[in-house]
Amino acid sequence: MKMKLAVLPGDGIGPEVMDASVRVLKTVCACFNHEAGFTKGLLGGAAIDETGSPLPEETLKLCRESDAILLGAVGGPKWDHNPARLRPEKGLLGLRKAMGLFANLRPVKAYRPLLPAAPLKPEVIDKVDLLIVRELTGGLYFGQPSERRGPEKESVVDTLQYSKTEIERIVEKAFQLAQIRRGKLTSVDKANVLESSRMWREIVDKTASRYPDVEVEHMLVDATAMQLIARPGQFDVIVTENLFGDILSDEASMITGSLGMLPSASLRADRFGMYEPVHGSAPDIAGQGKANPLGMILSTAMMLRYSFGLEKEAAAVEKAVDAVLAAGYCTGDLKVPDGKIVSTNELADKIIDHLKENHAKSLHV
Ligand code: IPM
Ligand code: MN
Repeated sequence: MKMKLAVLPGDGIGPEVMDASVRVLKTVCACFNHEAGFTKGLLGGAAIDETGSPLPEETLKLCRESDAILLGAVGGPKWDHNPARLRPEKGLLGLRKAMGLFANLRPVKAYRPLLPAAPLKPEVIDKVDLLIVRELTGGLYFGQPSERRGPEKESVVDTLQYSKTEIERIVEKAFQLAQIRRGKLTSVDKANVLESSRMWREIVDKTASRYPDVEVEHMLVDATAMQLIARPGQFDVIVTENLFGDILSDEASMITGSLGMLPSASLRADRFGMYEPVHGSAPDIAGQGKANPLGMILSTAMMLRYSFGLEKEAAAVEKAVDAVLAAGYCTGDLKVPDGKIVSTNELADKIIDHLKENHAKSLHV
């Protein structure tokens, strides 16, 4: 398999976790006889500094010419006071929209060795394995905001807008995923208040008739936030709109013990995808080798699976992560009792060693 990859490290810890993940991917390629080309591009604050735009045309062109995108993280205090169009986040949102990546998959699972590291009781989170399917190119993130209005500019409007088609395609995707998982779908909304949520519910109910093998329930977003902490084991697939999904996925990360653990895939109808950790750029620890690379490394596993259909390779990376955690290695964000805290690169090295040891038979180096 030949893979043409756009690599957008971004800001803060982005470049560190990206370097670690690219090294892991290169090992996977060597072990399983694949070829990957990595082309770097600018996005976010790094792009603003270099080119004056958070999403330069050249980066868009690179992404369009690639089979998949790997993205680190964007943002940082340096650009926090920039006008809206010159914010790093604008680059990320623009890229998601431009590439049509409407389906954001955020799997959350409890890792045995990390159970004591999580703030929730081990018996509550043990065996949790859920998937948040977040709509990614609509809702409040993309409604046209108003200017500041009034004599003292004391009023402002953000718009939560969805079209039927936008809801239908994400709901369809969630049903398909529930069907190949444990057959349960929780659709999360605020239908007791929002008109868009009431339309969302109608579409979910209508789609459900074509998936008789999937059990569907509706849950209000506030109740979901509570249930995720109280009884996360009840969830299989959760489907929800953009902002609710953003918030619930950060919350759900505490099931793993750290936001640094969570990977994500942003997909459209074909195989093209963008793969990025759920965490942000963590400027406070940037450049110190302290960042947890596992969210990014697990995102590359999702890329192997979803964009290239390389299930065996994806599973090999995930197994390596399991093994390294089981051996007690971690980064500082994971409060594992008696854990061996290592650097970003050292943790990646442990994963690489595990891959080489277990797939040496087919090693082509
Ligand atoms: C995420 C991030 C982004 C989002 C930010 C950086 C714009 O929080 O991917 O979850 O809100 O989508
Ligand atoms: Mn977020």
